[in-house]
Amino acid sequence: MISKIGLIGYGKMGSSLLIGGIKSGILKKESIKVYDIDRSRAISAEKYGLRVANSLGEILDSEVLILAVKPKDLPELLEKNRGTLVEKYPLLISIVAGISVQRILSLLEGAPLKVVRVIPNIAAAVNEAMSAFYANEFVSKEELAFVNSLLSGVGKSVIVENEGDLDTITGISGSGPAYFALMINILENVAIENGLREDLARVIAAQTCRGTASMILDGGHSSIELIKMVASPGGTTQEALRVMEDRGFSKIVLEAVAAAIAKSRAMNRS
Ligand SMILES: NC(=O)c1ccc[n+]([C@@H]2O[C@H](COP(=O)([O-])OP(=O)(O)OC[C@H]3O[C@@H](n4cnc5c(N)ncnc54)[C@H](OP(=O)(O)O)[C@@H]3O)[C@@H](O)[C@H]2O)c1
Repeated sequence: MISKIGLIGYGKMGSSLLIGGIKSGILKKESIKVYDIDRSRAISAEKYGLRVANSLGEILDSEVLILAVKPKDLPELLEKNRGTLVEKYPLLISIVAGISVQRILSLLEGAPLKVVRVIPNIAAAVNEAMSAFYANEFVSKEELAFVNSLLSGVGKSVIVENEGDLDTITGISGSGPAYFALMINILENVAIENGLREDLARVIAAQTCRGTASMILDGGHSSIELIKMVASPGGTTQEALRVMEDRGFSKIVLEAVAAAIAKSRAMNRS
């Protein structure tokens, strides 16, 4: 049982992961301590009933350290605290996008630390995240089981054998909530422009997105099957899909996601 967990960076993603883990019962508030250089973030962690460290040093002796800062802030964080990390030998769980395990270890001057790299998504806050993780050879089976239970507690979780797959997953599920939110926003705006009240427009667009995912995940339908089930010949859906394809919708989405994946790969190389 892990009794000391430290979170570095109580931002949007770090807080979502912790709050989701607490809601699911996998994490206990009393075993967590949070550190964030932004005082307002620390205050919001306190308001949620979490223990907050006044300095990073206070949490570096945790058994598990969750790294949840922006990619630009990770190098300095690791380099400055290398000595303590090597001495205390915590399990490092990094949710930082685009920074590989190898890069993390090289920032620690090659010290053989235990590192799990996770690509979660923001829906952890409502226990509906999609997360994927990769672990290096120093991580034990028990530690892997802990990571898996934490991530499964906040949604669905998969382990990948090939770290390179995490770039693809970053472009699909890491960034994905923004793609679907954009689609929902467009549908909401069309609904409002056509006279629907704002609150109705939101629920109609968002519930349609949730229902579609449930048909696939729980109803056992493939995405293509689902399109055929809705788009009857000569009907409204077929008309919309025709316009989408005429204007290159699939090509645009394909190119956009490929750009996200390429960006993640480039960040790993830099
Ligand atoms: N947001 C997502 O949907 C998502 C999805 C998957 C992965 N991620 C990854 O999750 C990580 C966090 O993203 P986010 O969106 O949660 O960012 P965020 O909201 O900016 O949170 C990061 C927090 O860490 C603080 N911080 C920076 N340096 C620190 C240090 N040395 N010690 C302690 N705290 C420090 C930041 O303070 P300042 O603002 O003052 O710098 C900020 O409060 C990123 O690496 C991102 O790639 C995010």
